Amino acid sequence: MEFYQQFANSTKLWGKDCKFERIGVVMKLIILAAPGAGKGTQAELLSKHFNIPTISTGAILRKNISDGPRLGEIAGKYINDGKFVPDEVMIEVVSDRLSKDDCKNGFILDGFPRNIAQAEALDKSDIEIDVVLTIEVADETIIERLGGRLECKNCGSTYHKVHRIPKVEGVCDNCGGNLVTRADDKPETVKERLNTYHSQTEPLKKYYEEKGMLKIAYGKENISDTANEVLKVLGE
Ligand code: AP5
Ligand code: MG
Repeated sequence: MEFYQQFANSTKLWGKDCKFERIGVVMKLIILAAPGAGKGTQAELLSKHFNIPTISTGAILRKNISDGPRLGEIAGKYINDGKFVPDEVMIEVVSDRLSKDDCKNGFILDGFPRNIAQAEALDKSDIEIDVVLTIEVADETIIERLGGRLECKNCGSTYHKVHRIPKVEGVCDNCGGNLVTRADDKPETVKERLNTYHSQTEPLKKYYEEKGMLKIAYGKENISDTANEVLKVLGE
């Protein structure tokens, strides 16, 4: 049985008759939250729920770093210092990805926009975002979470040494890939990522609140309670 089926059965998250896909619903959603707040974790669940792809800019950049082309060389320098990759690079990456056919019925943007310039670039495009979801989590909790995170080198699925333990140590439940610690999860880099988030990304909450697009979920101590909270604030 796949993880989401088990997860749904165990938490009754999606209700008895739900088939994990809200076919026909077009949802264009941004998840805007701090590093380690659970963007990727909740995006994975929402992607199943709405049957739409997740566009994780961090995952796209990491894939390019491991594959080694030009973008990887640029991105690696910034990511490993906890800094943002330049806006013009990110805007090109995202507009290219959003033009693909699988985004026609909606998408989840995990990690874009991250500053006002990126949000304004998105506003100028012909893409209309339905909702911006933020997940509030305290910095101390984030530091604990990122200290125990493991990520699949192959498919990018995320685990945790305490909160989401893989069935076999060091092996991804979804694809059998190796689980590793991300290079930017070193304590000193996490600190820098949090600083960058508070100074550059957090102002976007006000930006979207003023447009009436912001929904706030308060992160819980475990993944399934947070998922329930997220669905509630999205009106699902
Ligand atoms: P990115 O990969 O997006 O990193 P991030 O924003 O720092 O966020 P994380 O992926 O670390 O955390 P998350 O919120 O997804 O949490 P997760 O679900 O894994 O970006 C990396 C870098 O790329 C950036 O720093 C930047 O340099 C660059 N970049 C990307 N986009 C860019 C852009 N637009 N512009 C410029 N630069 C850009 O959860 C964390 C852990 O907690 C996991 O182990 C999980 O299992 C656990 N967990 C999750 N939820 C819970 C819960 N409720 N209870 C207990 N444990 C939980
Ligand atoms: Mg992530």
